[in-house]
Amino acid sequence: MSALISPSILSADFANLERDLHRIAGADWAHVDVMDNHFVPNLTIGLPVVERIVQVSPIPVDVHLMIADPDRWAPGFAEAGAQSVTFHAEAAAAPVRLARALRSHGARAGLALKPATGLDGFVDLLGEIDMLLVMTVEPGFGGQSFIEGTLAKIRRARRAISDADLDVWVQVDGGVSRETIERAADAGANVFVAGSAVFGAQDIPAEISALRDLASR
Ligand code: DX5
Ligand code: ZN
Repeated sequence: MSALISPSILSADFANLERDLHRIAGADWAHVDVMDNHFVPNLTIGLPVVERIVQVSPIPVDVHLMIADPDRWAPGFAEAGAQSVTFHAEAAAAPVRLARALRSHGARAGLALKPATGLDGFVDLLGEIDMLLVMTVEPGFGGQSFIEGTLAKIRRARRAISDADLDVWVQVDGGVSRETIERAADAGANVFVAGSAVFGAQDIPAEISALRDLASR
């Protein structure tokens, strides 16, 4: 499975989003963090801005919804043309129905787990989703340290997916850098979100390539 790099525009310049989307054009996806100040203690952007990001982005958009009531709001992001829409397991009332709705709008459906959320209750859902996002920091802010304790969950998730013979991608988000990406890849992740590591780099395209190379070894 090849490694996909999804730079998080949470660390981009929000006054120059189109410019920064072009700076990450060598990546696979543009990761867009939507926060509502309810599910997480931070507020970012909503649907109207994401609609424009989808229109101007040179690469497919990977939306990560850190919001309450995704059952109500997530399908709009799929309709806007995001290639992948991920909602949190802790917030969804009817995750199977929501994943089906996202897929019916042509998006890949992603299910996210906070660091303290166990995998066990969600193994039965793996057949309904395209990606499992194992959060490797507490959601809400960029620039935090990778929680090493999440590696075991990544490993268990990858094993459950292969045991069920499914083609579900495993994404990691939070504290992903040259220092941590190999451990996440070894544990079974194949989609890597990196915000501060990419946008904090002197040479953004080189950083994306370096991360991809480390994750593909
Ligand atoms: C955090 C967000 C992340 C964030 C990652 O809640 O979901 O996507 O941008 O930032 P870094 O890579 O700096 O940890
Ligand atoms: Zn994210």
